[in-house]
Amino acid sequence: MSTNVNRKPILFGKVVSQREISEDIYDLTLDISGYADLIQTIQPGQFASLYTDDSSMLLPRPISICDISKDEGLIRFVYRKVGGGTGLFSNLKPGDSLKMIAPLGNGYEVLDKINLKDKNCLAIGGGIGIPPMLLLSKVLSQAEANVTAVLGYRTDDLFLSEDFKPYAELLISTDDGKAGVKGTVIDAITASGVKADMIFACGPMPMLRGVKVYAEKESIEAYVSLEEHMACGIGACLGCICKTVEVDSHSHVKNARICKDGPVFNAKDIEI
Ligand SMILES: Cc1cc2nc3c(=O)[nH]c(=O)nc-3n(C[C@H](O)[C@H](O)[C@H](O)COP(=O)(O)OP(=O)(O)OC[C@H]3O[C@@H](n4cnc5c(N)ncnc54)[C@H](O)[C@@H]3O)c2cc1C
Ligand code: FES
Repeated sequence: MSTNVNRKPILFGKVVSQREISEDIYDLTLDISGYADLIQTIQPGQFASLYTDDSSMLLPRPISICDISKDEGLIRFVYRKVGGGTGLFSNLKPGDSLKMIAPLGNGYEVLDKINLKDKNCLAIGGGIGIPPMLLLSKVLSQAEANVTAVLGYRTDDLFLSEDFKPYAELLISTDDGKAGVKGTVIDAITASGVKADMIFACGPMPMLRGVKVYAEKESIEAYVSLEEHMACGIGACLGCICKTVEVDSHSHVKNARICKDGPVFNAKDIEI
């Protein structure tokens, strides 16, 4: 059973495995099989807030849910070690316990609202925005959509790309041209001539801006996930706002809280 503080489920996962799959990129799998009901509710695009056991680091670190196994009760995160919090996570060993709040955020809720069968979907991930595209691609593929995963990397260290192959066609772009198309994810899409009915994206802000412009030009519905800096992670501190086109019902200004109202937004609803 999960403890429920402020109606946010607090879970304790047990580390099953962790390995460094690329320089400073870690692939962490935890057993959360004791929370079977909760696992059933997890949507692609949602995230978890992971706590360190260092009491000087009060705030949890938001990390996207990369994959889940509903049958085995496993949850998977792929993260880049960038600072103190992720540095501590990288030391976790099998059998260790990790406290988290999950699932958080809205996820790609549109998946539940439309018939995805035979829809041509682009799952676009850039850098550390690639991991959540894996669960998304899996769910799209299970719904019989035609999925093309467009993955943007700095160089030819193509972490996670093999994992997409059961679910999606792959397009790769790299900044230095050492693999795939040299340039951006949009360059890779344009070079391939692939046509899309829907776009889902997660990655750095310049990439998301490019996706929004491309989607508007091609009249494609696009959903983008913003992995911006966060503090409380549960909608209480307004530390993660983004500008919206319409007035928000919570703050009554043109703002939305990325952690609570997002992190996924229809690209046309936000200014990025
Ligand atoms: C919804 C969401 C989902 C995320 N999913 C993932 C994921 O799947 N994998 C992953 O590797 N990271 C992800 N991140 C980013 C991750 O939360 C941060 O890298 C992490 O909190 C850094 O903690 P730290 O203590 O190691 O680093 P800190 O010591 O807090 O910071 C180290 C450096 O990283 C920068 N940084 C911290 N947070 C972010 C951020 N959100 N975006 C850009 N730079 C940041 C800081 O400015 C600083 O330069 C996600 C963020 C959000 C908001
Ligand atoms: S991080 Fe506090 S409101 Fe989003």
